[in-house]
Amino acid sequence: MARSLDDLLAEGVTGRRVLLRADLNVPLDGQTITDDGRIRASLPTLQALREAGARVLVAAHLGRPKGAPDPRYSLAPVAARLGELLDAEVPLAADVAGDDARARAAALGDGDVLLLENVRFEAAETSKDDAERGELADRLAALADVYVDDAFGAVHRRHASVYDVARRLPHAAGRLVAAERDVLTRLTTDPARPYVVVLGGSKVSDKLGVIEALLPRVDRLLVGGGMCFTFLAAQGHGVGTSLLEADQVDTCRRLLAEAGDRIVLPVDVVVAPEFSADAPTTTVGVDAIPGDQMGLDVGPRTVELFGRELGGARTVFWNGPMGVFELAPFQAGTRGVAEAVAAVDGLSVVGGGDSAAAVRQLGLDEAAYGHISTGGGASLEFLEGRELPGLAVLED
Ligand code: 3PG
Repeated sequence: MARSLDDLLAEGVTGRRVLLRADLNVPLDGQTITDDGRIRASLPTLQALREAGARVLVAAHLGRPKGAPDPRYSLAPVAARLGELLDAEVPLAADVAGDDARARAAALGDGDVLLLENVRFEAAETSKDDAERGELADRLAALADVYVDDAFGAVHRRHASVYDVARRLPHAAGRLVAAERDVLTRLTTDPARPYVVVLGGSKVSDKLGVIEALLPRVDRLLVGGGMCFTFLAAQGHGVGTSLLEADQVDTCRRLLAEAGDRIVLPVDVVVAPEFSADAPTTTVGVDAIPGDQMGLDVGPRTVELFGRELGGARTVFWNGPMGVFELAPFQAGTRGVAEAVAAVDGLSVVGGGDSAAAVRQLGLDEAAYGHISTGGGASLEFLEGRELPGLAVLED
């Protein structure tokens, strides 16, 4: 079992420099943060460390810069928001683990917080080469006395600030990482039944691993979003100009042959001639998708069908929107499923990324869900049963 934050606090952290890896990878519109959920989720660990008198250096990534400083990916907006939420000064170092970070780390007082610049400004962060990552991890480790990982959304990455640095410093799991791990463990160990999983999002190919791993364990797998069209094509339906992964049709056909009784597909979809908020929309049965139109949301009969399946469930995991919920004419499917998941009488888990953002953007009550994960890819890989480097390393 990984050392907990409480174990670490019990040892005493006053005056010690703690390197805290957080997932502050928030969506931005220019310099404006459009969803600060991940920043808020990082606060409990950060506050606990500050209150205990630790000198906290926060390491985080933003987006996927190309391994060099790039102002578009600076953590400056995140430092500002973090400062507001903590009601404290949160300066941003000009580098990740260079001269400025070192000087600022040395000047920290008890309870102070410093944000290091985007760790992905160093090419070594994401390098496949152990020695390259190790060199960055050495520099990061030299800044602190202890490492705490609270970046659940990044635990599936074997990156220098997630994995290698934990091998160089005494370490503990932050509160968010511990909470995410515990909830997802409930899904993989004897979940209350019926256990229903809802998957959406655009690509089947991204979700095949988790579909294969989940099918033997779930009572129902409801499939919506762009990925449903590859399944519908596998059933022999014409899907017009909808998203289709032609090279995955055979795989979907095999999955339907093996577990068709557990896979539930949409029965109607909302179609439009183009991907636009102004396009005229029609709702059609899945056997009547016009050749020149694309499906951009699931239809009302599908929401009803999925709602019935979810209504009887005792455990639910939902990952991926049902349609293009960012555009008003195509958000009813995601809203309907989100509401049905919220109403589940049992454990309901929203799996990160777009689905978590959808809950907030559609103005739904976050408290109605058992758990909203901050990790999209990480929660899927956890459910797939893969070893996550960032969690495994904390066990040592
Ligand atoms: C995420 O957004 O899922 C995490 O922050 C990880 O980001 P990544 O997919 O760019 O590694």
